[in-house]
Amino acid sequence: MSASVSLRDITDFAETLAREAGELIRREREDNTLRTDYKHQTELVTHADVMADEFITGAIRKRFPDHRILSEETMPDLSQAEELDTPLWIVDPIDGTVNYAYGHPQVAVSIAYAERGEVQAGVVHAPFPGETFRATKGEGATLNGKPIKHSGATEPRQSLFATGFPYTKDNLEPLVRRLDAMIHQCRDLRRIGSAALDICWVACGRLDIYYENVSPWDFAAARLIAKEAGATAGHFGDVPADYPADLWGRDILISAPAVWEPVRSILRSASGYD
Ligand code: IPD
Ligand code: CA
Ligand code: CA
Ligand code: CA
Repeated sequence: MSASVSLRDITDFAETLAREAGELIRREREDNTLRTDYKHQTELVTHADVMADEFITGAIRKRFPDHRILSEETMPDLSQAEELDTPLWIVDPIDGTVNYAYGHPQVAVSIAYAERGEVQAGVVHAPFPGETFRATKGEGATLNGKPIKHSGATEPRQSLFATGFPYTKDNLEPLVRRLDAMIHQCRDLRRIGSAALDICWVACGRLDIYYENVSPWDFAAARLIAKEAGATAGHFGDVPADYPADLWGRDILISAPAVWEPVRSILRSASGYD
């Protein structure tokens, strides 16, 4: 990053882009008939996903032509996450596309900025309720400008958890085993439909626990927001030694600190890892 651009400036820029993209996707849903396509099996993509992706990545490229970009719709090359020499932007133009297409409000634009594989800034903007979560590393996390904190949950039995399920239905069995174990040992489940919002909701105490297997664009920004809100973020499975943990999407577990270890044990044993 050039000496004149601070991480705060980077976060401000990401927030401006997320808000403008949020306005675009809100307008497209309200004013137009969505043009919807299938990516594969049950995964949808709308014309607004692609428009928002092109808007955000175009603006990043214009301001920071030397930086790399990983984005779900136009630049999904995951090998970018392993190249550490130049800064990386990680973009999900619409997290919660199925919600978006069905007219549900839980939809977010997610933008993260990483240096040497470590996320330094993250913004998750939900345009329908008008909520913007943001964090700059080391400076705490906010929701619409007000500091946020995790719930402080102390035991799984009194915890509300969220998770999600992949669009590809080839290997659901381990996920069903985890779900079975968690439902038996926690208060209840919410399936919000946006991984970024699941994690931001752990950050602000609307949920106590989140776990899933997702892609970097789904969680990179929200994970920093959760950490900056004092939640514990890690993995219940192994992260390859040479891969940046901030961008590793398998077996993610983010929760209020006191329940993290007990839930990790539940998920490891349900997964057959121990
Ligand atoms: C999806 C959402 C969902 C999660 C899926 C993701 P998309 O992202 O975050 O909650 O369960 O794994 O792919 O496709 O709506 O951007
Ligand atoms: Ca997503
Ligand atoms: Ca998406
Ligand atoms: Ca998608």
